Amino acid sequence: MKRVLKVLGWLVGIVIVLIGGLVVFINATWDNPHERAASTRMASMDSATISRGEFLFKYGNTCWGCHSATPHPDAPPSGGRPFDLTNVGPGFGMFYTPNITPDNETGIGSWTDGEIVRAIREGIRHDGKPLFPLMPMATLKGLSDDDVFAIVSYLRSIPPVNNKVTPHDIRFPTKMLFALGVVGPEPPITEPIPTPARSVTPEYGQYLAKHAALCSDCHTPRNLNDGSFYFDSLFAGSSISFGQIEGDPIWAYATNITPDAETGIGNWTEEQFLLAVRTGTRPDGRVLVTHMPYAEYGLWDEDDLRAIYLYLKSVPPIKRTAPPVHQTEQITQNSGIERGKAIFSMRCRACHGENGTGAPATNAKMSELAPTIDDKTLKEFISAGQVSLRMPGFGKTLSDEEMNDVIAFIRSWQQ
Ligand code: HEC
Ligand code: HEC
Ligand code: HEC
Repeated sequence: MKRVLKVLGWLVGIVIVLIGGLVVFINATWDNPHERAASTRMASMDSATISRGEFLFKYGNTCWGCHSATPHPDAPPSGGRPFDLTNVGPGFGMFYTPNITPDNETGIGSWTDGEIVRAIREGIRHDGKPLFPLMPMATLKGLSDDDVFAIVSYLRSIPPVNNKVTPHDIRFPTKMLFALGVVGPEPPITEPIPTPARSVTPEYGQYLAKHAALCSDCHTPRNLNDGSFYFDSLFAGSSISFGQIEGDPIWAYATNITPDAETGIGNWTEEQFLLAVRTGTRPDGRVLVTHMPYAEYGLWDEDDLRAIYLYLKSVPPIKRTAPPVHQTEQITQNSGIERGKAIFSMRCRACHGENGTGAPATNAKMSELAPTIDDKTLKEFISAGQVSLRMPGFGKTLSDEEMNDVIAFIRSWQQ
């Protein structure tokens, strides 16, 4: 008996040492640099190229949505936005987006153009270390050479901001997934990627929906244990909610936009689709939360969105229903100006800016205009909207009390 126990003791000891060794090994090697050449092409400083890059950065791929601390297309992408993934899947950790302004010390000023392109499309940093796929390389890898270099042209043209971002707190399961190669860089891009001809065709729509806008990144379900996409369920709706891990007052799952008639958008006409994507207004009159970046898509050429509509009509229909929009206690348990502020931040800020000071969707300064309008007229206007101007009507989305609270918040700017 004693001998058996002794042997068992030894065995347990060996297993512990082995596991301990494995942990030490994984901790030491999970982010070993990858040997992979970066393109030697230089980003053009031509103004038309910079504008194309700016368009993609602000209104196409909406890179600022993750890389700016303040959610605004014009805010410097100096990083620091927290993403709490400690309770997602195996507990990936706490991530903070990096500073991607051209600051030499804290940003990407010292990276070569090719290294920046490799980070965006392949998920490898300038020093060869792998990036965590919260950065959407799986979709961005299809960006054409000209478009991805145009984004770099834009990033080079903006002022550097010195901002040292908190390092990530990457948990052991994530390191193990990296070490096992389950999570890691995208395959090397070895062939040129041309931009498809710009016209109202499913081919161009596919390029936009999958690569030059992040429709597929948000609207496709993921395996929550390793973050990989279920590409066989493209556009069937997200498995993560948007806004929850950021602590927003309202959060929502991206819905099914496959042509399934019952659970997707199979019955939507082109007109209804354009209205939803440009003004956030669904066929039933409910307005989408601005996690769906319709404020930005409203600034697109209508033909580009028509191309996306054509393409989405051609993907396989899938039956899948997203959970409903969730309002947190900041909305359900609050009242007055505080609640009005929370609603404004999720429903109005994307177009009207913080405190009504204006945003790319409308330069009209609500902070100056609203004081000239009485409460009743203001309420009627917010209820009905003005779709020709791309102002959605919130009558079917906000209750009477919620509307009063938003107005109370708007009035608080005058004091
Ligand atoms: C869903 C959020 C998200 C979006 C959208 C996003 N990024 Fe990122 N990006 C990240 C995160 C998080 C990292 C850091 C990952 C890591 O360190 O493992 C990152 C890393 C980077 C890096 C490497 C910088 C460094 O210091 O490591 C570059 C360059 C970059 N992103 C550029 C872009 C551009 C350009 C776009 C738009 C085309 C974009 N990102 C869109 C989240 C995002
Ligand atoms: C950052 C994430 C994100 C991106 C990028 C995104 N969406 Fe959405 N989308 C959402 C969310 C979240 C909702 C649900 C909002 C709600 O229900 O209030 C939504 C809803 C929609 C709806 C309404 C569907 C319905 O049944 O109500 C359509 C249509 C849509 N998106 C199309 C698109 C298209 C087209 C693109 C790309 C051009 C796109 N989305 C990009 C997050 C996103
Ligand atoms: C998709 C963008 C968008 C969203 C979201 C949006 N608005 Fe507007 N709003 C506009 C546009 C565009 C105008 C017209 C501006 C002009 O006169 O040129 C406007 C006008 C207004 C006006 C008239 C005064 C002014 O600034 O022109 C008020 C008041 C207003 N909006 C309130 C709201 C409130 C409250 C919300 C949120 C519940 C909201 N809006 C959400 C786009 C938007």
